[in-house]
Amino acid sequence: MRNIEQKYGIIGKSEEIRQLIQAVEQVAPSNISILILGESGVGKELVAKALHELSLRRHGPYVIVNCGAIPAGTIESELFGHKKGSYTGAVEDRKGFFETADKGTILLDEIGELPPETQVKLLRVLEQGEITRVGESTSRKVDVRVIGATNRDLGDEVRNGRFRKDLYYRLKTIMIRIPALRERREDIPMLAEYFMMRYADEHHAAYKPITPQAMELLLRAPWEGNVRELKNFIESVFILENGKIIRPETVSMHLNPHYREGHYDTRLPVRVNKDSEQVERELILRQLFLLRQDIEEIKNKLSQIDIGDVVTMNKMKDISRYIQGTEAHDIDVEAAAEDRTIQEIEKETIARTLEKYYGSKRKTAQALGMSERTLYRKIKEYDLRD
Ligand SMILES: Nc1ncnc2c1ncn2[C@@H]1O[C@H](COP(=O)(O)OP(=O)(O)OP(=O)(O)O)[C@@H](O)[C@H]1O
Ligand SMILES: [Mg+2]
Repeated sequence: MRNIEQKYGIIGKSEEIRQLIQAVEQVAPSNISILILGESGVGKELVAKALHELSLRRHGPYVIVNCGAIPAGTIESELFGHKKGSYTGAVEDRKGFFETADKGTILLDEIGELPPETQVKLLRVLEQGEITRVGESTSRKVDVRVIGATNRDLGDEVRNGRFRKDLYYRLKTIMIRIPALRERREDIPMLAEYFMMRYADEHHAAYKPITPQAMELLLRAPWEGNVRELKNFIESVFILENGKIIRPETVSMHLNPHYREGHYDTRLPVRVNKDSEQVERELILRQLFLLRQDIEEIKNKLSQIDIGDVVTMNKMKDISRYIQGTEAHDIDVEAAAEDRTIQEIEKETIARTLEKYYGSKRKTAQALGMSERTLYRKIKEYDLRD
């Protein structure tokens, strides 16, 4: 159990997590498809990865497809591949994700978003173990283990006619439901400390203890965004409360404003999708962190100036240049900061993150806490190279 926690980063000591890990270990080695259910941010992707790693296919490929991020028009060709000339833009034969995942595992994330026509094809793959590339008439054998994940109530989707009943029944033979964080609050302290330790490690900074009173507040918060929200919360506290012990005031200050009124209501409606406000917040936090580092360095530079010394214009320019990163005539930090709109900050952050992950949109979207669909939109909007 400890081994699994460490290896796959599934942290928690609640009965729910214990059972979850047991289930994962039990079903991982088989080839049966699995459906992972749970609200946004509960750890579905983490569990899917563990299932692959614990299976006999672990040396094979692990392919993640975000069904929600691919336009309906191209999803079939993305999944099953296409023949050259089968449609405009199909300039060469191409294999799809299923062939890429041969002998391995495919995670169909947001499986509830699959268009009905594609659902039919998927059912066929599950039943016959073969795919047909778009534009071809013969099928090809593939040996792929399918894991589906969704934060939607698929039963509801079936009742509303948005998801095929036959596919649903095929998938739900093995269902793993990950409970919301508010259903297993005992995990909160362990998770909070784990994330705190991880950030301290990443930033080569000291671990900041959380006082028992502060932990009490964390224990009672609704965490509608589940583990992801707790993780983001710890990150922002870590960055903004540089070096301080985490006290209740800090927690109240940084908690989601509508949790704050002192009446935590666990019956609040559950918000399942990351909203754009949260994405924006995370981007701003990252910039603040960078700004803080800059300020520290500027302070250092300033402290090198002797008080008795005559501060020459050149020295001032030196510092000013440092602050603005360009030739400048006056020190005007505020104006420099004000000059940049949130859009500019966002554009720059996206560009930098894309670069960091060598253009991988999936990793970039993940790092920035936004959906791939949003990232695609922003790349287009800001005219960034992708
Ligand atoms: N038990 C856990 N231990 C440690 N980290 C966790 C745990 N559960 C979730 N996380 C972390 O929380 C974040 C969200 O998890 P994940 O991406 O797996 O959520 P999800 O269920 O796929 O959400 P969504 O439906 O929004 O895609 C990730 O950074 C993940 O590593
Ligand atoms: Mg996910």
